[in-house]
Amino acid sequence: MNETATADDWVRELDARQRAMLAEMGVKVWTPAPARVPLAEPAAAAPAPVQPPARPPQAREPAARAPIVPTTPATAAPVSIAPPAPARADIAQLDWPALRDAVAGCRACSLCESRRNTVFGVGHTEADWMIVGEAPGEQEDRQGQPFVGPAGQLLDAMLRACGRDRQADDARGVFIANVLKCRPPANRNPAPEEVMQCEPFLSRQVALVKPRLIIAMGRFAVQSLLKTTEPIGRLRGRVHRYEGVPVIVTYHPAYLLRTPVDKAKAWADLCLAMDLERAG
Ligand code: URA
Repeated sequence: MNETATADDWVRELDARQRAMLAEMGVKVWTPAPARVPLAEPAAAAPAPVQPPARPPQAREPAARAPIVPTTPATAAPVSIAPPAPARADIAQLDWPALRDAVAGCRACSLCESRRNTVFGVGHTEADWMIVGEAPGEQEDRQGQPFVGPAGQLLDAMLRACGRDRQADDARGVFIANVLKCRPPANRNPAPEEVMQCEPFLSRQVALVKPRLIIAMGRFAVQSLLKTTEPIGRLRGRVHRYEGVPVIVTYHPAYLLRTPVDKAKAWADLCLAMDLERAG
């Protein structure tokens, strides 16, 4: 990373596409004098994309896997027809398909009772960037995809401003996941127990994607990854680590929709991420 790069340097380096995207994000760009260096395109030599395991879009969750309790003999042990949920330690060994199945069948906390769909995550499974959000909202719960509501539209604009795209399966790709894979009812905050139960899934996703950097968006992503209750304002602007992977902290897109004045700070955070990436 160019340690001495300033915000002005970034503003000078914006190309037309990025300016348009910043406008879409609602960030007004003040143009300093005068030289403007075009921003380099993302590296051409991308790792061969690996398609996510082919799966149909998540359908409604199967009904609760109730054990079948035989009526006779009365003393017989209950027989379960469901495969046992992997133990927390075993999740760390799962491959993509098994991890996806484990999330889809998870009943480790009460969120499974109210969800329509689990929301596993989406994107390039070998992406350089991983985005971690909080939890599915109503739209995400309906569609089984992360960040598809208004906050997701802003996230997509932010990513495009960085030359990234959730649908790209090349060097522009990202993998997007949440701390929680199920929607908390009425979009309430995740409970500590829910975060704790879901943590092995996110940890395994990070281990499988092997991103070069993680962008933690919002309080719950930050708390879950960094194990700190420090406010985002005090964590921004420097590089943290999660299981060895550099982590950039920024505001959640839903917060930015409510507090557009902080979009410029979020842009500065994305610039830090791009800096870090360029430093290799
Ligand atoms: N907010 C999140 O944190 N994640 C989503 O998937 C949607 C909204």
